[in-house]
Formats: sequence, structure tokens, C-alpha cells
Amino acid sequence: MTNTDTAAQLASATRTPSPRTYLMCRPEHFTVSYKINPWMEPTNPTDTKRALAQWQTLYDTYLELGHTVELVDPVDGLPDMVYSANGGFVIDNIAYGASFTYPERQAEGPAYMDWFRERGFDLRVPANTNEGEGDFLLVGNTILAGTGFRSESRSHSEVASVFGREVVTLSLVNPSFYHLDTALAVLDPLTGDENANIAYLPSAFDAKSLAILQDRYPDAIIVSEEDASILGLNSISDGFNVVIASRAIGFERQLRERGYNPIGVDLSELLLGGGGVKCCTLELRR
Ligand code: ARG
Repeated sequence: MTNTDTAAQLASATRTPSPRTYLMCRPEHFTVSYKINPWMEPTNPTDTKRALAQWQTLYDTYLELGHTVELVDPVDGLPDMVYSANGGFVIDNIAYGASFTYPERQAEGPAYMDWFRERGFDLRVPANTNEGEGDFLLVGNTILAGTGFRSESRSHSEVASVFGREVVTLSLVNPSFYHLDTALAVLDPLTGDENANIAYLPSAFDAKSLAILQDRYPDAIIVSEEDASILGLNSISDGFNVVIASRAIGFERQLRERGYNPIGVDLSELLLGGGGVKCCTLELRR
């Protein structure tokens, strides 16, 4: 098969959206008052009203796409709680709780766990440090798991036993891409392993992890440093619609070429805390 055949085949592929349920947290207390990643600069001003308005656009976008969004109450004094992806990891109604790396975020763990318990999820209290869906991504039937900056590799084996699924460890090497969801996007999560696909930034991974990604996902979208540097990969796909950072122009084009429908949202204010679309979104798989 020639390259042109492959390109035509990919573009004509039928992408099917499926309705999802997400957990989000309104950024009522959002600010940058400490620095736990290279994006955060406590001396730079933040605008909480603007963060709220941008977050609202993301929320409205999900509803317009037919998704359901549930909300957890924000807690005063926990400015990063808006990044709900870090609050846990949920598959088959089992919620594996988070145990945060830095003291500044540690109280978020129990706040999210209380929410899961109250909503009837089968809560598993974590024994190891992990930051939820920031580092655990379900791709088809496989769980890709990041380590290097936040989640300990011991949490990967814990996740494997909690969910009884294959867990593939990936090591992150660039402090700007400290969570797996800043370096890798899941495009087709619900279609089983044969059709599962991702997008990623190769330089964010060590050589061994990169070899695993190349072997498992030969058709992956390789995203540019430029798009990744505004957290363009930090995106949410329903199998057809992909909500991305509006400034990730190259990624937008790549998605369109593959038959996806990219939708740009501006979360520049939340980028000051080192988070984007995906960070503000935790998938609830009941
Ligand atoms: N300021 C937060 C932190 O450093 C941002 C978290 C972003 N979340 C994510 N899923 N990548 O922990």
C-alpha cells in the first residue's frame, strides 16, 4: 500500500462519537499560589473570573456534544482542584482514589474520594502515590500508565490488580510534561485494542517507552513540540469530536486529516497552573 492509499483510508475512516460522563470542578478558588510544575509562576497574576468563564465554555461544549457532566464542590484553599483528572481513575464503576505527590494538593485526595463514595462508586483507597487520570489513560482495553514525576511505578501494579487489566508503564522525562495526559492523548478509547489510537509527543518519553508506543500504535498522530508546548495534547476525544486547545493549529489539522472533528477551546488562564482540557476532565466509566 502506498502512503497516499493509507492517508485516504485514514481520512475516510468512520469515526463514531459515543456519549460520555465527565466529572468537573468549577475553578472558584483557582489561582497560582505555589509552584509544583514549570508552568506555575506564583508571582504572575491570575484572573479567577476569566478562569471561570473559560471553564464554563469547556463545560458547555461537553453538554452540546451530548455528554453528561457531574460536578464536585470546589474547596477553598485547594486552587488546583479544578484539575479533576487528577482526582482518581474510574472504570467499571470502580474508583481508584488519588494520593497526591505534593503536600499542597494532598487534601484533594480525600475530597474526591468522599465524592466517589457518596455517589455509590466502589472506592479503592490507594496505597501508593498516584495522580489519577493525569497518569492513567485507558486506551482500548489497555491502561497506559505514566511515571517519572508524579505517580509512583508501584501504583501501576496496584492499578493492574484493582482493574484486572494490562497496565503498560511509560516513563516521562521532560518536567514540562509531568503527567502522561500532557504528553499523550487518547483518540479512540472505546473501540477495543485493534482500533485504539493515540497522539503523542515522542521527546516526552524515554527510549524504552517510545519503542513501546511505536510498536503498539504505528498509526499514532505525532504531535509537534509547538503544539505540545501549549498543552495541545491535553485533550478529550469521544471517538469523533476531539476537544483541544484552540491554539494547537497543527494538531487540529492532523486530526481533521484523520477524519476526527477537532473543537478548539481557549483555557489560557488554566494553562497558568499547568493544565488544559483533559486536566479539567475526569471520565466516569460506570
Ligand atoms: N497545577 C497542577 C499540578 O501541578 C496541574 C495539574 C494538571 N493536571 C493534569 N491532569 N495534567 O498538579
